[in-house]
Amino acid sequence: MAQFHSLRIKEVRPETQDCVSIAFDVPTDLKDVFQYIQGQYLTLRQDIKGEDVRRSYSICSGPLEVDELRVAVKKVPGGLFSTYANEHLQTGDALEVMPPMGRFFTELNPENQKHYVAFAAGSGITPIMSILKTVMEIEPNSRFTLFYGNSKTATIIFREELSDLKNRYLGRMVLYHLLSREEQLSDLFNGRLSGEKCERFCDILFDPEDVDEFFLCGPAEMITDVSDTLIERGVDKKKVHFELFTSPGQGKQKTQTQQVVGDAGKQIESSVKVILDGDEIEFPLASNGENILDAALNMGMDVPYACKGAVCCTCRAKVTEGEVNMVMNYALEPEEVEAGFVLTCQCHPVSEKVVIDFDQQ
Ligand code: FES
Repeated sequence: MAQFHSLRIKEVRPETQDCVSIAFDVPTDLKDVFQYIQGQYLTLRQDIKGEDVRRSYSICSGPLEVDELRVAVKKVPGGLFSTYANEHLQTGDALEVMPPMGRFFTELNPENQKHYVAFAAGSGITPIMSILKTVMEIEPNSRFTLFYGNSKTATIIFREELSDLKNRYLGRMVLYHLLSREEQLSDLFNGRLSGEKCERFCDILFDPEDVDEFFLCGPAEMITDVSDTLIERGVDKKKVHFELFTSPGQGKQKTQTQQVVGDAGKQIESSVKVILDGDEIEFPLASNGENILDAALNMGMDVPYACKGAVCCTCRAKVTEGEVNMVMNYALEPEEVEAGFVLTCQCHPVSEKVVIDFDQQ
């Protein structure tokens, strides 16, 4: 499941001056493996100047689009992979791609009559695009309101496609663009997406009580501000789904450090068993040493990872025995943590024996 597969690039399409979308050719024998749900992401891997670089990018296409598996990659200053993708990748190149992952979605049903509201900033539009297209298609009686923040018109990713969708789903889809570095007629839409803006939108443009699901994607600060505002306005936090792209310097963790037992300050030497694809490997690991993911990689196990920063969830596995200390978590939902799932890139053993199973989903 968590293996990389080599996929050929079908198209590299410029979306803005510093963003390309990349579509992959999925061979027939891998079609099932690369089936995806709206809002999921792919982890890409490439050797760049001798470095094994892995990054996760959300899928922007919708699962109902025939033979379309596409991610968008925005160039970030100093970003190794994003610069490579924007400047060097071409049609016909091959990339190592991990099957789709992620839980940034809710179950759709043609009978639903829901109101979805999404807040996206910059490249945070990518998974929202996939969710929006799929909701509109599968749920003919649902509505979608999108607030999309950018600096200027020229940096709006999928500007035309969004406008086409708005025209196509007239009456069911509402789109508001916010620009932080270009004046618009209404002051309401000048500036960044923030808690304060969200407050005003709740007063003027939608009633939070009338919304069934919220989807937020963008920088940590925006997500924290907007979700706090929504929760203060009485929205059940189960209805607020969010996805971060980069490891935040600060921001709201989905759950705090968990599964710490006994004296967390006490240093112990553990025996850690890691299970992946039915294979097992056991090694000693100090509680104050490297994290379990790195330790397993050093033992030669091809355990999955991308960000190593508690964001992408690629390194998710289940603790089936023992206890660990998970330092940060921006990706797992409280229910998953409750069920024993952890981000192995953030985990250190705190019991004498720990068993980590990557095969349990
Ligand atoms: S590798 Fe991304 S959360 Fe651990």
